[in-house]
Amino acid sequence: MHARGEGPTLADLAAVGVLYERLPDDDFQGALDRLKAARGYVAQDVIELRPDTPNLDGLLAKFKDEHLHRDDEVRFVLDGEGIFDIRGADERWIRVQVERGDLIVVPADLYHRFFDRAAADPLRASVQGRRGLGAGVPRLMTLDSHCSREDQGRR
Ligand code: LAC
Ligand code: NI
Repeated sequence: MHARGEGPTLADLAAVGVLYERLPDDDFQGALDRLKAARGYVAQDVIELRPDTPNLDGLLAKFKDEHLHRDDEVRFVLDGEGIFDIRGADERWIRVQVERGDLIVVPADLYHRFFDRAAADPLRASVQGRRGLGAGVPRLMTLDSHCSREDQGRR
């Protein structure tokens, strides 16, 4: 855990169904493959948040607003640092600082938001896996339908 101040506990995260753990550096793909098989995640790709990422500001603006998804959000951090705020059982934010080697799974329908830790330290973010919708059809992340709490939307 990367507790800051009071810091979240694994129990706080488990109470809302969030999985958070470190994966071994030498075999994170093996661990991800097992997770994908166990939970039926079908898609995996890499997202990078770097100064030269097209529409970086637009992406970060979407991430920083509280939102949820129909599918689990699965992120494995390849490089860099970031902050997830997760709505805890009591509606308070649970703040989780993620860094290289961290896996976080935010379950479907749970509100959260995300901040890049420092623009100067780009997050070569993450592997994402999503549960398949329908007959095992991979569903890649689409950012356009990213919706915020205010309109009670989902993407
Ligand atoms: C997302 C994050 C970062 O939706 O919450 O991709
Ligand atoms: Ni999200």
